Amino acid sequence: MSARCRIEGYAIVSVDGMIADASGVVPDSLKSEADQRYFERALERVDLVVHGRRSHEGHPNSAERRRLVLTRRIAAIAPNPDDPRSALWNPAGAAFEAACAALGVAGGVAAIIGGPEVYGLFVEIGYDAFHLSRAGKVALPGGLPVFGSSRAGLSPEETLRRSGLEPEAERALDAANGVTLVDWRRRAPA
Ligand SMILES: NC(=O)c1ccc[n+]([C@@H]2O[C@H](COP(=O)([O-])OP(=O)(O)OC[C@H]3O[C@@H](n4cnc5c(N)ncnc54)[C@H](OP(=O)(O)O)[C@@H]3O)[C@@H](O)[C@H]2O)c1
Repeated sequence: MSARCRIEGYAIVSVDGMIADASGVVPDSLKSEADQRYFERALERVDLVVHGRRSHEGHPNSAERRRLVLTRRIAAIAPNPDDPRSALWNPAGAAFEAACAALGVAGGVAAIIGGPEVYGLFVEIGYDAFHLSRAGKVALPGGLPVFGSSRAGLSPEETLRRSGLEPEAERALDAANGVTLVDWRRRAPA
């Protein structure tokens, strides 16, 4: 088995912990230019981007990035006909390490960028860090919880804490619009 990447999640949530509204769409109110700049710079430093079939980040440098795209349309791992630097992955048929190895990624950092099912899957696999941005003036009642419907009763913070991560100090990304960032990191073993 290949060495495992560090697993780091990135999401922006509403004040009530949603990544999209009740219709499954990210409203303009949740889109923050400051967070987008932070997110784009962060992805410049990672070795692999991991997301569901509908969550491509769409940045100018995206074509250069190695990526794993989750889908149930294949059994395990397959080349992505739309993008030679990426692979399709069905976690029901192959482990994360095997999918990384298929792309020649044997270490470094994997950025998990959603959507909710994918964020939830990596709670089980184990995040090393999660970079949680929050649009503190936006509520999305009935929206999509960041870690999926099975954890809808828990705040994102409670899910991260229960999975062994702890928060660093909150930083302002855009004070005027109440957009903040908290880096959650895995606690060192006792
Ligand atoms: N605010 C944020 O930070 C943020 C971040 C990410 C996404 N979003 C938004 O959240 C909304 C919902 O995202 P979404 O769920 O539609 O996007 P998504 O996770 O990118 O796409 C869902 C698709 O990914 C595949 N997939 C997901 N989990 C899988 C698993 N465990 N095994 C195999 N395949 C899996 C399935 O593809 P197949 O149908 O091909 O099987 C599924 O239909 C969108 O509006 C998106 O823009 C917001």
